Amino acid sequence: MTRGIRQGVFAALLLAAAGAAFAQSPARYGLGRAATPAEISALDIDVRPDGAGLPDGSGVSSAGATIYASKCARCHGATGKEGPNDVLVGRVPGDGFPFAADPKVPHTIGNYWPYATTVFDYVRRAMPTTAPGSLTNDEVYALTAFLLHANGIIEAGAVMDKASLPKVAMPARKYFVPDTRTQTAAKPKP
Ligand code: HEC
Repeated sequence: MTRGIRQGVFAALLLAAAGAAFAQSPARYGLGRAATPAEISALDIDVRPDGAGLPDGSGVSSAGATIYASKCARCHGATGKEGPNDVLVGRVPGDGFPFAADPKVPHTIGNYWPYATTVFDYVRRAMPTTAPGSLTNDEVYALTAFLLHANGIIEAGAVMDKASLPKVAMPARKYFVPDTRTQTAAKPKP
């Protein structure tokens, strides 16, 4: 047999062996175990736009400012505008939405984010990037209050919790609309 044919026969034998093994696979391998309710709730932290999923706890902007200075400012700037990482604070005059016309305008919580609840969800799951998941719920509520106040959206003393946060009206909300266009058949290619 030439080398090529030998290899071909070997490959065919391997395939046959794999097929036989597959045919004999058990319905279950018996590995792992069911996740416990505590394990599921540790991962089940999503907060929806309407506030579903927000935990107990609360915070105000002044408390958030202290946490922001020690855990966030080095990446987002002293006031949230300086970077080096994403700009978090800033409105557009008249609350316009000039992003298509001027790509240099930074997208911030104040001029772009449609839901205040997303600030809580995102900060809790992702920030600080060096220790995501390390903030308590009270700290995240306080940071959310700080960022919303810094963007001129809530009053300085407003308490953010699972009842008040979903009611915060975001300036850019009106620019996000459901796509109600009806599906049209794809045009045939010319
Ligand atoms: C070590 C640097 C670092 C630290 C510290 C940090 N961030 Fe960030 N942050 C980033 C980076 C990088 C991104 C962009 C992540 C991406 O786009 O995936 C980001 C994104 C964000 C965003 C989303 C911005 C947007 O509009 O998309 C928010 C909100 C935010 N950070 C808040 C915080 C808060 C609050 C803290 C403090 C608890 C914090 N960050 C600490 C680096 C950092």
